[in-house]
Amino acid sequence: MAVKQVGLVGSGIMSSGVAEVVAKAGLDVVLRSRSESSAEAMLTALEKSLAKQVEKGKLEASERAAVRDRVRAVTDLAELADCQLVLESVVEDLTVKKQLFTDLDEICTAAEILATNTSTLSVGEIAATTKRPERVCGIHFFNPAPVMPLVEVVRAEKTSAATVAAARTFAEACGKTVVDVVDRAGFIVNSLLFPYLNNAVKALDAGLATRDDIDAAMKGGCNFPMGPLELLDLVGLDTSLSILEALHAEYQDPNYVPAPMLEQMVSDGRLGRKSGQGFYDYSKK
Ligand SMILES: NC(=O)c1ccc[n+]([C@@H]2O[C@H](COP(=O)([O-])OP(=O)(O)OC[C@H]3O[C@@H](n4cnc5c(N)ncnc54)[C@H](O)[C@@H]3O)[C@@H](O)[C@H]2O)c1
Repeated sequence: MAVKQVGLVGSGIMSSGVAEVVAKAGLDVVLRSRSESSAEAMLTALEKSLAKQVEKGKLEASERAAVRDRVRAVTDLAELADCQLVLESVVEDLTVKKQLFTDLDEICTAAEILATNTSTLSVGEIAATTKRPERVCGIHFFNPAPVMPLVEVVRAEKTSAATVAAARTFAEACGKTVVDVVDRAGFIVNSLLFPYLNNAVKALDAGLATRDDIDAAMKGGCNFPMGPLELLDLVGLDTSLSILEALHAEYQDPNYVPAPMLEQMVSDGRLGRKSGQGFYDYSKK
């Protein structure tokens, strides 16, 4: 079965970006948010992003309306019933994702694939809440999804080869480079990246150097496009904390114990770009 209509669940950073990628790949998107206001906000953000690309000459003006028209925002999960592929990007919380997959399993009878964009949680545990674990896999995009070339396709214990192949075909149709990985917390990228990001916070807290110098050092010394503290702000500090907790739970490696400063910032509501405050101040930008 070819994927023509993709259901996306969640209205945060990742779903917004993935919606743009999928619509630009020529597929129809049904975007499910819990509230009318966040559904509207996502469409407004999409329109703004497409307008910017036209302005910069990266998108034909004629394509802009076509891409926008492929995306329909809804609030009722039942609207995803006809989608051949559903990808969720809701909060990084196993209980929330398990409940969502229980609901999707009931609703999405036409779906060839039910996928999660989780960064670290067990795809197998999520799949086990459905009656079709062979059709569940991880399709892990990176942030910002329209820019980052990689997708990790995650194969849980019961994921079938046909599901992995279909997920790969979908991600490649979205113009992404695909890597296959088994179902271990953090997969390839985050299991390697997060000790580094966590240690950057510990270094800042210990007074090794200033925020700006830590970021400048890793950009200038390693040729990284962003410093670790800038990157944490982009990912979201709450999501980063959840990722570290899941990594620590799986590997018991002290490198994954979240930096106390990161925990403090999250409890203070400083979540990075999305809240306007993180290691940097975005409130005036
Ligand atoms: N931020 C990143 O860099 C990144 C990259 C790749 C994958 N991910 C993964 O994508 C997923 C979403 O991350 P994000 O950065 O878009 O987060 P976000 O905080 O921007 O958005 C989270 C979304 O979840 C929704 N939500 C919160 N509680 C909910 C609940 N109880 N039931 C249903 N929906 C709920 C929110 O309304 C929001 O739409 C997570 O699993 C995360 O690990 C994040």
